[in-house]
Amino acid sequence: MSSTSGDTTPDAPLTPAPSRERSAWAERLGLRVPVVCAPMGGVAGGALAGAVSRAGALGMIGMGSAGSVAALERELARLDTGGAPFGIGLVAWGIAREPELLTRALEAAPALLSVSFVDWRAEPAARAQRDAWIGAARGAGVRTITQVATADEARSAAAAGVDAVVARGKEGGGHGEHREPRDPLLESVLAAVEIPVLAAGAVTSAADLVEVQRRGASAAWIGTAFAACTEALTSAPARAALIAAEGRDTVVSRVLDVALDRPWPSHYPERLLRTPFVERWQGRESELAADTVAKAEFRAALAAQDYTVVPLDAGEGVGAVTTVRSAADVVRELARPLR
Ligand SMILES: Cc1cc2nc3c(=O)[nH]c(=O)nc-3n(C[C@H](O)[C@H](O)[C@H](O)COP(=O)(O)O)c2cc1C
Repeated sequence: MSSTSGDTTPDAPLTPAPSRERSAWAERLGLRVPVVCAPMGGVAGGALAGAVSRAGALGMIGMGSAGSVAALERELARLDTGGAPFGIGLVAWGIAREPELLTRALEAAPALLSVSFVDWRAEPAARAQRDAWIGAARGAGVRTITQVATADEARSAAAAGVDAVVARGKEGGGHGEHREPRDPLLESVLAAVEIPVLAAGAVTSAADLVEVQRRGASAAWIGTAFAACTEALTSAPARAALIAAEGRDTVVSRVLDVALDRPWPSHYPERLLRTPFVERWQGRESELAADTVAKAEFRAALAAQDYTVVPLDAGEGVGAVTTVRSAADVVRELARPLR
């Protein structure tokens, strides 16, 4: 354990000196920049992953809740990293639904396999499920990572044999548990486990990257700041909506999942851009679930890509997304030396 408890020295460093394993995590993966572009389903395809990896960070192909072997094959065909490492991100129930997804992901020889939304309970079925993907990745020589929202989840992940965890703060975009802000969560996760810990949630600048590293993170795990990149799967109207938004326009909500009858567990709401539709139904999700007219209107707005109605996943750092840029520009900006 790398706990700081008991250290009463007033000018003690914020975190203990990082272990070699923690400080060298990015280097060992072959990264020049300690940044991972989060595996965002519907956003982070092969083109974005390749561009991020060519720029020296780690690009990841994201297979979200709608992921499939066919979609993974399509995005792998678009992946050109120029020989640099890349990663693949799956969600736990995607593997349960289509076990071939894991097999195919490992065959692609990623440097990193992420599995999100893992059931960390001690029940035998949950345990068997996570042992299966952790064991398969280990057998294939692929490092693993998972996102956690509490120090307890981090302990469970480390005990199960996951190689690194992402301490995902509630500022982050997309689905998650949204419990604690990034920095206090990072601190408690670093104290709870010895494996490398990445920081996620509103990391959008070189100053943020330096700050999370100073606090002990081995790298930053960044979604929103890459979501409007040229190479992302994001459509032009969605990019425009992200660029126009500020952090205060985001809200944690289940309205999108309910409107689309998506079977996301209710303890994983998503941070998304607030629209009048979200405001109308926030807190009235069961009424929305039963309102076929409202849901049909919403689907029509989705088909028309009307983002004044349809909310996009985005984190509190969305205000820093002010223009469409290449992934290389975003990585360069994140790696810019601070004066
Ligand atoms: C548009 C979008 C889609 C996302 N999709 C996924 C996903 O499919 N799987 C996943 O594990 N995380 C997903 N996330 C969450 C990210 O992994 C990460 O936790 C988050 O982006 C970090 O915070 P940030 O957005 O402030 O950088 C998504 C995030 C965004 C913004």
